[in-house]
Amino acid sequence: MKRILSGIKPTGAPHLGNYFGMMKPAIELQSQGEAFYFIADYHALTTVRDPQAMRDNTRGVALDFLACGLDPKKAVIFRQSDVPEHTELAWILSCVTPMPMLENCHAFKDHVARNQVPVHGLFAYPVLMAADILLYDSNIVPVGRDQKQHVEVTRDIAAVMNRTFGKKEPLFVMPEASILPQMATVIGLDGQKMSKSYNNTVPLFDAEKPLRKKIMSIVTDSTPVESPKDPTHSSIVALYRLFASEGDVATMEADFRAGGQGYGVFKQRLFDALWEHFRPMREKRAELAADPSYVDGVLRDGAERARAVAAKTMARVRLATGLR
Ligand code: TYM
Repeated sequence: MKRILSGIKPTGAPHLGNYFGMMKPAIELQSQGEAFYFIADYHALTTVRDPQAMRDNTRGVALDFLACGLDPKKAVIFRQSDVPEHTELAWILSCVTPMPMLENCHAFKDHVARNQVPVHGLFAYPVLMAADILLYDSNIVPVGRDQKQHVEVTRDIAAVMNRTFGKKEPLFVMPEASILPQMATVIGLDGQKMSKSYNNTVPLFDAEKPLRKKIMSIVTDSTPVESPKDPTHSSIVALYRLFASEGDVATMEADFRAGGQGYGVFKQRLFDALWEHFRPMREKRAELAADPSYVDGVLRDGAERARAVAAKTMARVRLATGLR
C-alpha cells in the first residue's frame, strides 16, 4: 500500500493554485493508498507574526480541505505542530545536511537576492520539509511545481541518511513528487504564478462580490471590443481551462478569435462558471463551519493517527543513529 503525503501552509485562504496544484490531486489520491495531509504551521511560522491569524487560518485551511472532499475516514488530516516528531527528525536531518544544498534552494536565494535578511527557519525550511516526508515513509508527494526542488532535496537528504546510518537496510523510503503537468503552475490575476505573496490569488471561498471583483481585475491587453483576441496567452482562458469542459473552453477560444466581445464579457463567463463549480463545496463548507468542534475533532483524531506512525519511525531513527 502506497503512502501519500502533502502539506499546505496556513498563511492565508487557499486559492485556485493550491486547489488545482495540490488539494484536488491529493483528494483524488486518498482512495489509492494511505494518505497523510497536514497543515504546515511550523513552516508558516517562518513568516506569520500574527498568532490569531495563524489559529484562524489553520482552521480555515482544514475546513477548505474537508469542504473540497477530503474524507477524514480515508485520509489522515492533522496539524504539523501536533506531531512534535517533525521537529525532532528535522534536527537529526540537519546534522547530516550539507549547507550548500540549502544555499541552493530558490526560496532562500530569492530572499537574499531581494536583499532581505533570511531567518534561520527559512534557510532550514527544506530540512523540516524532508522530515515531514520521511517521517511517514512517504512514496508519493502530490505538489505544485514550486515544491519540486524541495522534494529533490528530501531525496538527497534521505540518500545521505541511508548511506550514513542505513548500512544494513535503508533507513528511509525514497519519495517521488507527483506533479500534474497541466496544473503544475496555476497563474494568478496578473499572469504571474498565483501566490499569496504576489497578492494575485483567487481564494476558493471568497464571498460573491469580492470574488467577482477579483475576476474582473484580471489583467488583459488593450485589444478593442470589436477586434479578434488571442486566447493562447489569455489569463482568462488559462483559468477557465482549469475546470471548464473541453467543449466550453473551445467555445470561449472561438469567441475570443471571432471578436465583437470585450474582455469584461469573458471575465463574467469565467466568474459564473467558477461560482457554479465551487457551489457544492461552498455549501459543504458552510455546513461544516457551523460546528467548530467538528474540525477540532477531526484534527485531534488526525494528530493521534499521525503520531502513531511518527513514533514508530522515530524509534527506528533513534536506534539507527545511536541516540538510543
Ligand atoms: P504552500 O502552502 O505554498 O502550497 C500548498 C500547495 O499548493 C501548491 N501551489 C501551487 N500549485 C500550482 N500552481 C500554483 N500557483 C500554486 N501555488 C501553490 C504548492 O506547490 C503546494 O503543493 N512547503 C509547502 C508545504 C509543505 C509540504 C511539506 C508539502 C510543508 N511540508 C511536505 C509537501 C510535503 C508549501 O509551502 O506549500
